[in-house]
Amino acid sequence: MSKTVGVPKEIKDHEYRVALLPSAAYHLIQRGHKVLVQNGAGIGAGYPDADYAHAGATLVPNATDVFGSADLVVKVKEPQASEIPLLRKGQILFTYLHLAASKPLTESLLASGAACIAYETIEVNRRLPLLEPMSEIAGRMSVLVGGYYLAKHNKGSGVLLGGVPGVLPGRVVVLGGGVSGINAARMATGLGADVTILEVDVERMRFLDITLHTAHTLYSSEDHLMEQLPQVDLLIGAVLVPGAKAPKLISREMLRRMRPGSVFVDIAIDQGGCAVTSKPTTHHDPIYVEEGVIHYCVANMPGAYARTATQALTNVTHRFVELLADFTLDEAIQRQPALKSGINILGGRVTHRAVAEAHGFAFNPL
Ligand SMILES: NC(=O)c1ccc[n+]([C@@H]2O[C@H](COP(=O)([O-])OP(=O)(O)OC[C@H]3O[C@@H](n4cnc5c(N)ncnc54)[C@H](O)[C@@H]3O)[C@@H](O)[C@H]2O)c1
Repeated sequence: MSKTVGVPKEIKDHEYRVALLPSAAYHLIQRGHKVLVQNGAGIGAGYPDADYAHAGATLVPNATDVFGSADLVVKVKEPQASEIPLLRKGQILFTYLHLAASKPLTESLLASGAACIAYETIEVNRRLPLLEPMSEIAGRMSVLVGGYYLAKHNKGSGVLLGGVPGVLPGRVVVLGGGVSGINAARMATGLGADVTILEVDVERMRFLDITLHTAHTLYSSEDHLMEQLPQVDLLIGAVLVPGAKAPKLISREMLRRMRPGSVFVDIAIDQGGCAVTSKPTTHHDPIYVEEGVIHYCVANMPGAYARTATQALTNVTHRFVELLADFTLDEAIQRQPALKSGINILGGRVTHRAVAEAHGFAFNPL
């Protein structure tokens, strides 16, 4: 079966990622499909139009051309207001959706008649493989930005995380040792910082202890955190309780125990943040100071490194894209049952339990 796969240019504010690499477009075309790419779709991630043209894709000037002809639309972020009317019945939309966070978007997508498959709910062996690369990037990045804001001219305390011969390294505490936490710890130990990870999952702590030779693990409790904070230079929030808001583990009193100019990077801000003082910021205005502690709470951290993020995302999405292009949705699910968990909306009905529960819609299991 030959399909038309459409790749629009992302239009969400400061979104530079693209959903398909030129090499993936080439492979789809080799499989007999047509690939439509909107002009400039890959430019923000360093993939010029010429690369797509060279791969055999057809470049089109605007989003209407892509949505109008595509059987399968592959995107990065949820459709924006101007894109929603372009979706149509029978079309497949494959992208990050985060529908539980938005009732209006869920309602518009229900009305569109399109089959909406969310990257973030595709579950394989109790993991979310299409979400993990973004946590990996945010985790690694948290140490880069944390170290940057510790510099004196950035309002920081003036501590160099790695120290130097004769001077002890900076101290990093990571709250939560999951995907983003272990990546933060890996970067921080690599810099030579003194790293402690607070976790509640004992099995996970065993794994962290064996894998990250120089990082310490500590059971996560209020008392332990209170003890740590006076010596912490960089505190990283990387907790997640699946399906719930981030637990507020850090109070104002706790922040007051930290030295002025210390830095708190709250990766968990997209789930509400893990300090009472956390509020979302943007790449253009990333920090603010509360209780003398610099807060960095950017909700879409991977957007800063659009090229790496594009490559990491497409590494995990391209096989699903091929499957959705090669087969009907039913056949694709038979070949890869994990796809089923990604289908949030089908035939004007909500087919994902968490999305239905979040907005009080009827849940229609597939
Ligand atoms: N800001 C961004 O740009 C960005 C990017 C990617 C991910 N995230 C977010 O980062 C957060 C973490 O994601 P993840 O993929 O690392 O999650 P994860 O599930 O892999 O890890 C979370 C860890 O937190 C631990 N935990 C739960 N409660 C705890 C507590 N009270 N104390 C200590 N540890 C606790 C869990 O045991 C788990 O190991 C999520 O909210 C995710 O959405 C944000």
